[in-house]
Amino acid sequence: MLQKFRENWVRPALFFGNNPISLAGGAITTASGVTMIAYWLMEFFGRPNDNPYLGLIFFLLLPALFIAGLALIPVGVIVRRRKLQKAGQIPAEFPKIDFNDHIFRHGVDIVLAATIVNLLVVSVASYRGASYMDSPQFCGQSCHVMHPEYTAYKISAHSHVACVDCHIGSGAQAYFSAKVNGTKQLLEVTFDRYPTPIPSPVESLRPARYTCEGCHTPARFIGEKLLVKSAFADDEKNTETQSVVVLHLGGRDSLSHLTGIHGVHLGHIEYVATDPTRTSIPWVQKRNEDGSETVFTTLPAGSGVPQGERRVMDCIDCHNRAAHTFVTAEDALNRAMAEGAVSPDLPWIHKKSMELLKANYASEAEASVKIPAELVAFYRSEHPEVLAAKAALVKAAGDQLVVLYSQNVFPFMKVTWGTHPNHIGHMDYPGCFRCHDGNHAAKDGTSITQDCSACHNLLVVDEAKPKVLTDLGIQ
Ligand code: HEC
Ligand code: HEC
Ligand code: HEC
Ligand code: HEC
Ligand code: HEC
Repeated sequence: MLQKFRENWVRPALFFGNNPISLAGGAITTASGVTMIAYWLMEFFGRPNDNPYLGLIFFLLLPALFIAGLALIPVGVIVRRRKLQKAGQIPAEFPKIDFNDHIFRHGVDIVLAATIVNLLVVSVASYRGASYMDSPQFCGQSCHVMHPEYTAYKISAHSHVACVDCHIGSGAQAYFSAKVNGTKQLLEVTFDRYPTPIPSPVESLRPARYTCEGCHTPARFIGEKLLVKSAFADDEKNTETQSVVVLHLGGRDSLSHLTGIHGVHLGHIEYVATDPTRTSIPWVQKRNEDGSETVFTTLPAGSGVPQGERRVMDCIDCHNRAAHTFVTAEDALNRAMAEGAVSPDLPWIHKKSMELLKANYASEAEASVKIPAELVAFYRSEHPEVLAAKAALVKAAGDQLVVLYSQNVFPFMKVTWGTHPNHIGHMDYPGCFRCHDGNHAAKDGTSITQDCSACHNLLVVDEAKPKVLTDLGIQ
């Protein structure tokens, strides 16, 4: 049998394989294979390198070359065979393989060994390539279009959760459709046809039960959550006030009752949004415990179900910015001042910082030069004594403002303050009030509640040095 195999396959293959295309293919495959193996060894013994462009080369480009080289070998064989066939030059018998010729024998051994190594390389490379494409480095860094989302992700509670855990979830079908979608987006980026900013919501995002709920148990009883927020005024002293809110987050309590913000929404509320950002929600349907359904709508009686996107409410309808929270300029500055990174001891710092954060800059680079420079210029001309006494605080404030700006504004992607609304709450964006506006009425005249105390206890709203914080030992 071995003899036959040699006669019918090895000899013709060697004969036809001796052509420039196949030889070039062999050379490309060998060169990229050796480079990849060298890189893997280096990575194994050395430090991992998370430069995304190296990843592009070693996990995608080289494997592609490797496979292209392999594919060239049979292509060359076929081309040469065709050519010879046309010219009627195919020999009746292929040149004899002389196994006594030791050079030739070694040649065959090398080809066999190379084939085994090649198979190994292909399997390792495809595994590495696939896992590289799933890494946050690939998703977030190799493509500048993702810069805003990646920046917000790096400073979020989810900075150690891979993009694919939320954006794709598990399962072969999800993986496949994500790659089809991804290829389309890659083409858009290659040909500069991508939208700016990248639109939200992500329509193809899978339901939260396949993603978020892989890590978070939806009915975990969280109970009450205390929220303390500071705000600073635009006066000379940057007067600080605080709000203290107890949110009724609830969940499934010890008696298995679903309660509070987390308990009441999940799995049994559907809605229709009539705009692409899911802000206009004229129709909401709730399935009651007895199986009946209640429809709350802002439309006149008898209008029926409006045209639009119909969704079952899940985590993402409130936590739409779970890994990519862009805050408002007010929030960003209030937080930085509460932490002292922008010192409230600098007179007028709140008013001036707000102005600088909200001004227009052509690029992040321009902002990072202009913001600190203009802050110093402001104190130099208006309050030179402050600059003289607190130069270090002014510098730290300028640097921190640049950080706040670069975490939230991305001129090249047209992402600025407020571009991506956050649905948690109702102060800056409609959020909960998309439904809880008091206008969504059922047939019996009840409406989705706007009662402040249904969602929270407002212990204190905008008070200076509230006593309750002293009582709690927080202040
Ligand atoms: C914890 C879950 C989670 C992780 C991890 C995550 N995302 Fe997202 N991402 C979301 C959600 C939720 C949305 C908003 C979806 C919506 O509103 O429909 C979103 C939206 C986006 C959008 C659309 C534009 C926008 O800002 O809304 C992009 C682009 C994006 N994510 C990229 C990434 C990249 C890149 C990574 C990894 C570096 C990543 N995401 C990691 C949950 C996640
Ligand atoms: C792979 C696991 C994983 C997945 C998937 C995941 N999370 Fe998380 N999430 C975590 C961990 C871990 C933390 C806690 C991080 C910490 O406290 O530092 C967290 C924290 C949070 C928090 C509280 C912190 C904050 O940012 O306010 C929220 C809210 C949250 N997740 C919502 C979601 C939502 C919504 C999704 C789906 C879009 C999701 N998570 C998907 C692991 C995950
Ligand atoms: C009706 C809106 C809504 C839905 C739906 C919702 N959440 Fe929340 N969730 C909230 C609010 C409001 C908070 C408190 C926000 C804050 O801390 O500022 C919160 C807080 C959280 C926290 C932080 C809890 C803590 O101890 O600080 C986690 C984790 C979380 N949600 C996960 C989820 C997951 C997972 C889902 C889906 C199964 C979900 N949420 C669905 C509104 C919602
Ligand atoms: C898509 C519409 C929708 C959105 C958005 C929404 N809810 Fe609701 N919510 C409902 C419906 C419907 C009910 C049930 C009303 C009823 O049974 O009377 C409800 C009930 C509640 C209840 C129970 C009220 C009660 O009287 O016991 C709370 C608390 C609540 N929601 C909090 C929130 C919070 C907080 C947010 C924003 C983070 C939010 N909801 C966003 C539709 C929504
Ligand atoms: C449907 C639920 C819901 C209703 C009704 C509601 N709120 Fe809220 N409210 C929230 C949530 C959720 C937050 C927390 C937002 C966050 O995590 O930042 C909040 C936060 C606040 C804050 C904190 C300050 C801030 O800057 O975030 C104030 C003040 C407030 N609400 C006032 C009110 C008042 C006044 C009413 C009654 C007219 C009301 N809310 C009705 C859900 C609700």
